[in-house]
Amino acid sequence: MGKTIIISNRLPVQLQISNGTIDAIPSVGGLATGMKSVHSGGESLWVGWSGLTDEETPAALENEIDVALKKHGCAKIKLTEKEIEGFYFGFSNRTVWPLFHYFSEYTEFELEFWNTYKAVNQKFADAIIEKSHDNDTIWVHDYQLMLVPQMVREKRPNTSIGFFLHIPFPSYEIFRTLPWREEVLEGLLGSDLIGFHTYDYERHFLSSVRRLLGLDVSFNDVYLENRVIKVDSFPMGIDYKKFASAAKKHDSNGKDSDLQIKLNSHKQSAPGTKLILSIDRLDYSKGIAKRINAFEYFLNKYPEYKEKVRLIILAVPSRSNVPQYQLLKREIDELVGRINGELSTVNWTPIWYFYRSLPFENLIDLYTSSDIAWLTPLRDGMNLVAKEYIATRTDKTGVLILSEMAGSANEMNEALLINPNNFEEQADTLKTAITMPEEEQISRNTFLQKRLERYNVEVWANEFMGALNRKSEENEPFI
Ligand code: UDP
Ligand code: G6P
Repeated sequence: MGKTIIISNRLPVQLQISNGTIDAIPSVGGLATGMKSVHSGGESLWVGWSGLTDEETPAALENEIDVALKKHGCAKIKLTEKEIEGFYFGFSNRTVWPLFHYFSEYTEFELEFWNTYKAVNQKFADAIIEKSHDNDTIWVHDYQLMLVPQMVREKRPNTSIGFFLHIPFPSYEIFRTLPWREEVLEGLLGSDLIGFHTYDYERHFLSSVRRLLGLDVSFNDVYLENRVIKVDSFPMGIDYKKFASAAKKHDSNGKDSDLQIKLNSHKQSAPGTKLILSIDRLDYSKGIAKRINAFEYFLNKYPEYKEKVRLIILAVPSRSNVPQYQLLKREIDELVGRINGELSTVNWTPIWYFYRSLPFENLIDLYTSSDIAWLTPLRDGMNLVAKEYIATRTDKTGVLILSEMAGSANEMNEALLINPNNFEEQADTLKTAITMPEEEQISRNTFLQKRLERYNVEVWANEFMGALNRKSEENEPFI
């Protein structure tokens, strides 16, 4: 067995430069923790962009950056401002992201973006080819790097390559509108195993492969001349223990954060008031503006809940160079301002809105203090926040209201599932959540927690790697 090489656009650490010194801080996010079981010990390497463009990287610190990353088993790909513009802000986030989330009207088909995407994917592939051997296992992640599998395969035909898509794969009718659709499929088919979060995404992909490339597809196998590619679903889990034990510690250690002190004092001053929580990156796919409108609709339909509920919105800044994200930010600022302006009383502000990212401890404060989590993506590959909320409910109380359009809804049937476009249903579901008896909350969450604990992120990563290893062994006689 060789080593495992993981490739993703972002590394699992963030670089911080202060007073001329470099620190690499491990990220909180799902993928970073998810890969821990695969990316630990000496025999693995994680290759990705450092988060700084070449122009932002002080030349004198290049070496130090490499050393800091190496400590975490990482190596960086250098990208210029221009490359980031076309590859990351351009093709990845103005073409693929909106298209794959069914926002066709936001999708831009720019040849310049596509050319930069190809060139940057080649850069990643070249780095992997340079750093790997034939018997290594390569795991490529997500929509920013869909051409990498084929680019690596050309130079290393015998290497075992897996690809996992963390966002939805759209239906053929949407995907076929992409001018470079064949190239993208061929890029992905350089893999031995292609993984998706859900069976639906997998089916959409297979349908596109059959209809656009005319390849033979049987069950979940794609037949090429000299190889068979397996396509399967692997719903990503969370680091259940990390969230559950942080919540337990939080209950018992008595040292409260400033945020927790504020949440406690709110609860004491208004006993019986319910806190409704939403946490998302500020992204149009998350349905934040619709959710705020639906909240207003709820307060008008059931005015008896005025002063009895509060919506907390944590919107994490994201991709702010992309015009649609700037427009959305403005829309949300205005909506929150208008609704708070119209409905607030001396004792009550209906919406608490935070536009920032919070440290892990504060996320736990929010999860454990909120009676309801209300997550309404219009499309979402998975949605890990839904899973994290349930994992922190150590006394098993709490209600999750979750959009049917999130991949996680497939595994979370005991949540209250809603269509985010249906305000009537959402208003009624909020009422159901607010009045749900504690025994029912406990019963629903018991099922959810068991499932999340069993299919945690380590199981997800191991199942993917196991399937990849089996697939590569099967493919050997063809080579
Ligand atoms: N998160 C974070 N900092 C924050 C708020 C959220 O790191 O201030 C994390 C959250 O815990 C979750 C991830 O961001 O693990 C969001 O993942 P999700 O699948 O819900 O959505 P994505 O942002 O990947 O579309
Ligand atoms: C989603 C994508 C990831 C991406 C993350 C944050 O989860 O699937 O690939 O890293 O959002 O977005 P960003 O653009 O900041 O990397």
